[in-house]
Amino acid sequence: MRLEGKVALVTGAARGIGHGVALRFAQEGARVGVLDLHEAACQQVVDEISAAGGEAVALAADITDEAQVARVVEALRTRFGVCTVLVNNAAVMPAGRIHETRPADFDRCVAVNLRGAYLVSRAVIPGMLSVNRGSIIHMASITGVLGLPGIAAYSATKGALIALARAMSTDYAACGIRVNAVSPGTIDSPMLHDFVAAQSDPERIRREFDQIHPIGRVGTIEEVANVCLFLASDEASFVTGANFPVDGGVGVKGEQPQDEAEAPCP
Ligand SMILES: NC(=O)c1ccc[n+]([C@@H]2O[C@H](COP(=O)([O-])OP(=O)(O)OC[C@H]3O[C@@H](n4cnc5c(N)ncnc54)[C@H](O)[C@@H]3O)[C@@H](O)[C@H]2O)c1
Repeated sequence: MRLEGKVALVTGAARGIGHGVALRFAQEGARVGVLDLHEAACQQVVDEISAAGGEAVALAADITDEAQVARVVEALRTRFGVCTVLVNNAAVMPAGRIHETRPADFDRCVAVNLRGAYLVSRAVIPGMLSVNRGSIIHMASITGVLGLPGIAAYSATKGALIALARAMSTDYAACGIRVNAVSPGTIDSPMLHDFVAAQSDPERIRREFDQIHPIGRVGTIEEVANVCLFLASDEASFVTGANFPVDGGVGVKGEQPQDEAEAPCP
C-alpha cells in the first residue's frame, strides 16, 4: 500500500499506459481519478478498479478545454479530497514529416500533449500547495531527446514536457511538490499497435522495435506503471526535476527502425 492516503489523477487513463498506471496506483491504495475523453470508457476502468477492491471515479473531459479540466479537478476534490498525485499521460501522435502534416494536426498535438499537461497541472497545483505536498509526473518519451523518423510534432511536445518538468521542479521544490518526467521507449500498447499497423510492412517494423532495444524486446505497460508508482510514492521524496528513461537501454544506444518515413528525399 505504497500510495495509501493519496488521491491521484491520471489523464488518458481509459487505455494503454494510463490505464495500467491507474490500476497500479489503485492496487497500492490510492483513490484514483480516471480521466479520459469518454465517460463510458472511464467508467469501465472505474468498475475494473472497484472489482479489485480499489476506489476510483470516472472523470470524462477533454484536457484541451480549460473549463472541463476545472470541472473534473473539482469533482475529484469533492469525491476524494485534494489531489496529491498527477500523471499527465494523455497524448496524441500524428504521423508524418513536418511538410506532410496539417497545421490542425500539429496544433491538436501541442494542445493535448503540452498545453493539456499545463492546464491539468495548473488546475491541480493550488490544492497541492494548500497541503504542501504533491507529485506531478509528465509522461514524456525517448523521442523527446532522440530523433525518430516521422513523428516530429509529437517528439517536439515530448521534449517540451521534459523541459517543463525540470522548470516546474524548481518553482515548487520548496513547496513540497515534486515534478518529474518519465520517458518510455517503445511500449506494447494500443498506441504502438496503431503506429505499426499504419506502416507498409507492420511485421518487420514490429520485429525491429524489439531488436533496437538492448534488452531485446519492447517494454510493458506495467514496467512504465512501476516507475510512475515509485515517483508518486514517498520513496521518491528526494527526487525532483528528473527524467526517468524506461526504455530497455535504447536511449543510450540510439538506433531506430528503418520505416518508410526515412525514404530518401525526392
Ligand atoms: N506506447 C508507447 O510506445 C509510448 C512510448 C513513449 C511514450 N508514450 C507515452 O505514454 C503515454 C500513453 O501512451 P499510450 O501508448 O498508452 O497511448 P494511447 O493512445 O493508448 O492512450 C492515450 C489515451 O489518452 C486519451 N486522450 C487523448 N487525447 C485526450 C484528450 N484531449 N483529453 C483526454 N484524454 C485524451 C485517449 O483517449 C487514450 O485513452 C503518452 O503520453 C505517450 O506519448 C507511449
